[in-house]
Amino acid sequence: MDDQHRPSYHFLPPANWMNDPNGLIQWGERYHLFYQYNPAAPVHHRIHWGHASSTDLVYWRHEPIALVPEADGPDASGCWSGCAVDDGGVPTLVYSGHRPGRLEAPCLATSTDNLQTWQKFAGNPLFETPPGLDLVALRDHTIWREAGRWFMAVGAGLRGTGGAALLFCSDDLRAWEYRGSLLHPDSPMLFPELPVEVWECPDLFPLDGRHVLLLSLWSGGPLCSAAAVGNYADERFRPTHTQRLDHGDVHFYAPQSFRDQGGRRIVFGWAMEGRSASAQVAAGWSGVMALPRELRLTDTGRLTMTPVEELKKLRGRHSPWRGLSIRPWGITTLPSCSGAAIELQLEIIPGGASAVGVVLRRSPDGSEETVVRYEADAGRLVVDRSRASLDPEVARSAHSAPLLLGQGEPLRLRLFLDHSLLEVFANDRAVITTRIYPAHVDSNGIGLFAEGQSAWLTALDLWQMRAIW
Ligand code: FRU
Repeated sequence: MDDQHRPSYHFLPPANWMNDPNGLIQWGERYHLFYQYNPAAPVHHRIHWGHASSTDLVYWRHEPIALVPEADGPDASGCWSGCAVDDGGVPTLVYSGHRPGRLEAPCLATSTDNLQTWQKFAGNPLFETPPGLDLVALRDHTIWREAGRWFMAVGAGLRGTGGAALLFCSDDLRAWEYRGSLLHPDSPMLFPELPVEVWECPDLFPLDGRHVLLLSLWSGGPLCSAAAVGNYADERFRPTHTQRLDHGDVHFYAPQSFRDQGGRRIVFGWAMEGRSASAQVAAGWSGVMALPRELRLTDTGRLTMTPVEELKKLRGRHSPWRGLSIRPWGITTLPSCSGAAIELQLEIIPGGASAVGVVLRRSPDGSEETVVRYEADAGRLVVDRSRASLDPEVARSAHSAPLLLGQGEPLRLRLFLDHSLLEVFANDRAVITTRIYPAHVDSNGIGLFAEGQSAWLTALDLWQMRAIW
């Protein structure tokens, strides 16, 4: 708790290791968030399902651990990722049993006490690898109702070929029939530019008149999360285009979504650490959930993510600024504009400036700072971590997302900074989530900059954010 890098208004477990969000579901009054959890140490090992619930997606209550690996069981070395469904009033989890030296296998558990405790199905695993497939992975589940039956897509890797999602169907969630690859055979290869071995965490759902398939791309380790947008019919998904979901690379991974009672499609994602394994062990915790985001499709079929409205209730002390010229030399600071647990919203008209942006977590001597920069010529948004920390052990690669502002369109940034976690939303179309670990405790400064020519700040709103615990 005394780690200066520990977030204060994002969900994380009481201690130790967390990765993927799992089993997202709204049940009665409460939202339930399960997650990949090692309660014994801040390392990925013998994964359990942790559990938390909330009435508003903002404040969370820790619940008892939901799933524990069982020696001799099909989940002997881990209860890996999966989903939750409402099976005619019975809360039901389907997850990937992990076994040493074998492919993962699907397992099921149900609850009779309002999601507090879970009983594993005696017939686990539900099935073994379908014959005739040479797989390197078979894990992570997304389940939906269709034509009176259950359908499930499972993430997979075909040896020597790459990622896949395999389709199954069932009448009772327990006996499953293999139906082939989810992807339509006429589909082009997805993500040819990346060396993808496994599609992890597939998540298929209808949205705004089309279908979306979320994927986490893996190649010996996480690469990034991505989405394919298209149409699903006759048991096959035909993508029309793909896009990166978040340009923070590994720092927004294994996203899972659910539909809430109000009809919103909400996604959670895991923000992996960017510091060494030994630093994570010394800190006693690893992994944090990015803020819940609402997914929408634009008219052109582009997938967008917007932090849910409810988060506004975390806004505390407010510092507004209006109308200010940002001169093209040095950093423009604003009196008492600082903080490490903040929401920052700003609108800048770049004018003739070649680049404009904001620096965060800047030390008084300027030796540390994280730069969020819009580059007009390159048409991109960059989060530059090269000087984010004096600690030589932390990740410092830059992230960039395509962003081309239209004629006269201002740069609109909404940033959520929570100690080591930074989420940047730009003009409703570029999102970058990343991790930063400034070494100085007073690296809390905020400043604005323009390059080449002056730019105009129309508005800036800074809120100090309340802690959720
Ligand atoms: C994604 C993932 C999943 C797997 C889980 C194990 O981060 O690798 O594919 O089920 O994490 O913890």
